[in-house]
Amino acid sequence: MLRGFSRHWRPLAQLQAARRVATNAGSADRVALIQGSSRGLGLEYVRQLLSRSGQRVVGTCRTPEHATELQQLAKTSGGRLTIVRLDVTDEQTIQAAAEEVAEQHEHLDLLINVTGILHIPDKISPETALSRVTPEALDMVFKTNAFGPILTAKAFASLLEKAEKRSGASSERPAVIANMSARVGSLADNRLGGWYSYRASKTALNQLTKCMSLEFARKHRKIASILLHPGTVDTGLSEPYQKNVQPEKLFNRERAVQQLLSIIDSTSMKDNGRYIAWDGQDIPW
Ligand SMILES: NC(=O)c1ccc[n+]([C@@H]2O[C@H](COP(=O)([O-])OP(=O)(O)OC[C@H]3O[C@@H](n4cnc5c(N)ncnc54)[C@H](OP(=O)(O)O)[C@@H]3O)[C@@H](O)[C@H]2O)c1
Repeated sequence: MLRGFSRHWRPLAQLQAARRVATNAGSADRVALIQGSSRGLGLEYVRQLLSRSGQRVVGTCRTPEHATELQQLAKTSGGRLTIVRLDVTDEQTIQAAAEEVAEQHEHLDLLINVTGILHIPDKISPETALSRVTPEALDMVFKTNAFGPILTAKAFASLLEKAEKRSGASSERPAVIANMSARVGSLADNRLGGWYSYRASKTALNQLTKCMSLEFARKHRKIASILLHPGTVDTGLSEPYQKNVQPEKLFNRERAVQQLLSIIDSTSMKDNGRYIAWDGQDIPW
């Protein structure tokens, strides 16, 4: 189970100071790939991981030339951040990204699949009624939120397997695949309905991730697959739907990612296959 998880959020500066003492030694030679890092939670994951001395990061996004904040981080990273093109709806780009990353790094310790869509202006909005469900939205939302992450995990699995040899991944500190899910993907927790495509795509992501976790365990791989719910976070994804969220329940990105990295940092093989909320609690399926 999770060890040392704190519910008490601390500002990033304090967290960084604590990490310099607690985990920096373990960051040397560690490689993380953040899939979907142009903005929102993905960009913040990159920023916080780079604050760890020695940590190397690959940030993927579909249009690197437009990812100006990510490019800025790369410029000041001392070569520890590389940016690779990957569109989760296009398997060729996933394969090409995996080949490019394998040329840069001999292993991966962490893959976080962050990409997710809820709405796209003038194209997709979450369905408030059955009559609004369309094949186009179902197709795009499932491709992005469910198929993309599992195909990305498939493409990078061999690099994650190499963590055992390169950075000593063990049952206590395995390589980790963290897929960004959402509480609304829970069947047990669904009391309001609505948001058909988004909810169902996250439910599908949960099942796909569960299958992967069982396979890795059966094959004795030192890779833990987990599903994370970040809480409601102030990003472009949630922005149009924040008006009924109580201020104390709307996290900023810094806090949200700090909480999620606390969970990821303490993940062992005992956590493999869990569906975990920002506070470390299991979410019912
Ligand atoms: N924010 C919340 O309150 C909340 C709550 C629960 C769960 N989540 C989950 O957390 C994750 C991150 O959400 P967020 O709030 O950070 O969202 P966001 O700010 O809207 O960012 C979404 C990211 O996904 C990328 N993306 C979209 N389609 C893509 C594609 N086809 N290929 C590659 N990248 C693509 C976007 O890149 P572009 O810049 O290229 O568009 C962007 O970097 C999502 O999985 C979401 O479902 C968020």
